[in-house]
Amino acid sequence: MEAKRKEPRKSLRIKVISMGNAEVGKSCIIKRYCEKRFVPKYLATIGIDYGVTKVQVRDREIKVNIFDMAGHPFFYEVRNEFYKDTQGVILVYDTGQKESFDALDSWLAEMKQELGPHGNMENIVFVVCANKIDAAKLRCVDESEGRLWAESRGFLYFETSAQTGEGINEMFQTFYSAIVDLCDNGGKRPVASMSISFTKEQADTIRRIRSSKDSWDMLGVKPGATRDEVNKAYRKLAVLLHPDKCMAPGSEDAFKAVVNARTALLKNIK
Ligand code: GTP
Ligand code: MG
Repeated sequence: MEAKRKEPRKSLRIKVISMGNAEVGKSCIIKRYCEKRFVPKYLATIGIDYGVTKVQVRDREIKVNIFDMAGHPFFYEVRNEFYKDTQGVILVYDTGQKESFDALDSWLAEMKQELGPHGNMENIVFVVCANKIDAAKLRCVDESEGRLWAESRGFLYFETSAQTGEGINEMFQTFYSAIVDLCDNGGKRPVASMSISFTKEQADTIRRIRSSKDSWDMLGVKPGATRDEVNKAYRKLAVLLHPDKCMAPGSEDAFKAVVNARTALLKNIK
């Protein structure tokens, strides 16, 4: 009897789209990777740009169809039909433009709406690019904030510059190899890439601490609270965020802020 011959692995075809506000650098990131160059002049994408590239992931050759979307709201009608049958999304914001970071949620919402009630966002690989890190002076969204947003959703996160090329190759390599893992896993996100090393409570608490307006607010006690109340609130947060226990991005800074808030409050309470 002849031994069953091992099937050669079929070559893969995948579809990838880019998303994010106008002018954040989507087209430049793709151009940097595919053509190894950077164009400083802004040429807005009109509707959609389409390209095909071949990439090597481990021993496989992958054919990638890239749909580079226009970020401007004006092109919504053109974009909306390109969301379906996508295996990977490159989600980009400009680290010097808070608005483009805040808009990430609405980009996910637009995609979800276009995919409809039967669409499944769980089995798509998302990579978040915090772009234009070369312009460090203009930066207003720091790494831990971006990373927290991405990783709490099970998305990949990379700091990139289309101008210098920093982070671009690593980002695409990791992104494509995650998509290949997904395809090999029958189109489901492999379990390993879904496991998040921190809880939603930890992520939400760090976000709340970042946006708190004063020390009372940070500890979640009313102004005029007693020493006991302050200490109790402090202990609860310290247990949740202690750097030995909490792997969430930004937990160390949040922990320090909580320690300082408690010290400041206790100084003024008899
Ligand atoms: P739309 O197609 O309108 O949605 O914009 P886009 O997201 O494709 O932006 P595009 O790639 O065209 O880049 C917008 C502007 O930002 C251009 O002037 C680029 O030269 C500039 N740019 C893109 N990436 C970087 C970067 O990493 N660093 C700096 N300093 N500028 C960048
Ligand atoms: Mg573009």
